[in-house]
Amino acid sequence: MSSHSSDSMPAVSRSVKDLRENVSSWRKHGLKVAFVPTMGALHEGHLSLVELARNKADKVVASIFINPRQFAAHEDLDTYPRNETEDLMKLVTAGCDLAFLPDAEEMYPQGYSTSVAVDGLSRDLCGLSRPHFFGGVATVVCKLLNQCQPDIAIFGEKDYQQLLVIKRMVRDLDMPVSIIGGPIIREEDGLAMSSRNAYLSSAEREVAGKLNRIMTSAINEIATGADIQVTLQRATNTLLTEGFDRVDYFELRRKADLSFIDKGTLPAAQLDTARLFAAVIIGKTRLIDNMPLSGT
Ligand code: PAF
Repeated sequence: MSSHSSDSMPAVSRSVKDLRENVSSWRKHGLKVAFVPTMGALHEGHLSLVELARNKADKVVASIFINPRQFAAHEDLDTYPRNETEDLMKLVTAGCDLAFLPDAEEMYPQGYSTSVAVDGLSRDLCGLSRPHFFGGVATVVCKLLNQCQPDIAIFGEKDYQQLLVIKRMVRDLDMPVSIIGGPIIREEDGLAMSSRNAYLSSAEREVAGKLNRIMTSAINEIATGADIQVTLQRATNTLLTEGFDRVDYFELRRKADLSFIDKGTLPAAQLDTARLFAAVIIGKTRLIDNMPLSGT
């Protein structure tokens, strides 16, 4: 069985077999299980998901697995921040009962040959510049959900497209789990918390903080009747003059299916259907963010 939890560490499972034994013993006692998948380098955003899980279930499992299948060869797999001991201490404080820490061999044993692809949704926005990404995410999340078999699983709205891809996969494959989104947690200047913020130099960090203000004013303009295309283009120009090196996308989309809203103005009655999505590059770091138009 898993190593025992102490006051400062949760119990840890490193094998699927051990994870399943723990979860099935809880289920036998009628306990509801929530699952929070992560890649570690935990920050308050992740911990808020664990706390949400705690409020919705009797037992909370969190996984830490840096999934090689969602990184392209030129991306940051090798340098992705790793800090197991600190992460475990944070998890126990946030209310996690069991940490699942498989290694790559446990997840993708010799001869592994199955992929999950969620068409449509995966090809847009981040999928355009990271074509490998959502296939890698869908594959590992499908495996993690099958391994853990939780009642609910929680994913951050910071990765909103990922959340929709996972919801679609779960619906399409009839997986018996409810997927719940947790709100974005922000730094004081509004920068969405992300493990990749650690890559930013202090000058880059200062620039990164401006994203929130530029997104918020674009939202306010569109919500008060400004032309969508004009507003998005002006905001993109502002990002570039304020120090961002590149804007991958800065777009208004329907929150249900990510379809484009790019013409004319947005009627007040439709505000609640829209979300602003941004991906920007500063130096070597790519940051993503998104915001609802109505504040809900
Ligand atoms: O959002 C993440 O941290 C990852 O994409 C996830 C969902 C844990 C899959 O590796």
